[in-house]
Amino acid sequence: MFHEIPQAVYDRMKYLEHMDALDRSGGTPSEKRLRQVSPEMGKFIAMLAMGAPEGVLIEIGTSAGYSALWLALACRYLGRKLVTFEVLDEKASLALETFRLAGVQDVVDLVTGDARPCLDSFEDIAFCFLDAAKEVYLDCYEALIPRMVRGALLVADNAVSHSALLQDFLQRAMGDRLVDSLIVPIGNGALLCRRV
Ligand SMILES: C[S@@+](CC[C@H](N)C(=O)[O-])C[C@H]1O[C@@H](n2cnc3c(N)ncnc32)[C@H](O)[C@@H]1O
Repeated sequence: MFHEIPQAVYDRMKYLEHMDALDRSGGTPSEKRLRQVSPEMGKFIAMLAMGAPEGVLIEIGTSAGYSALWLALACRYLGRKLVTFEVLDEKASLALETFRLAGVQDVVDLVTGDARPCLDSFEDIAFCFLDAAKEVYLDCYEALIPRMVRGALLVADNAVSHSALLQDFLQRAMGDRLVDSLIVPIGNGALLCRRV
């Protein structure tokens, strides 16, 4: 599957990886940085999403759409769509450009705005990648978990790199009987929760 990434998707992935590397080395102001996941984490979430049960696939925190491209590959495989949320207009514009150039507009719906008030509208969430402002993780968790179908997966990034900031969220998830959870030491550390 990942040996045959469509050329347009591959080209945009490589471009964004290059831009992200420049951000990290060149002192781009923090709010302008793409802060996207590594290719390894992208593949990890795509592989997990490919095994998701029936239901909606969500991403919270699109940035320029790099991780969404990986999830779009899973959506093509599943014949389903991704709904991805980005609060900043500037990043949302970059993401739209990404989806257009990569030719994945048919499998990705971008919603511009804070994801939190929108999560109530879902009833059958099968997969969510949470990669947004750390302050919103707990609110998102409380909205997502009751709306997840059995076997659904939540992957939250930065569980190791930002463990202090995410302490309340991590404690809540690890102690919640509605999910089985563990921290996977990949990239910046992923909290993986499976709805029981
Ligand atoms: C770490 S970046 C996401 C990187 C992206 N997942 C990738 O790997 O390509 C976090 C993004 O989340 C967005 N964000 C933060 N809080 C949000 C919220 N409440 N709802 C939607 N987007 C949010 C930020 O504007 C930022 O672009």
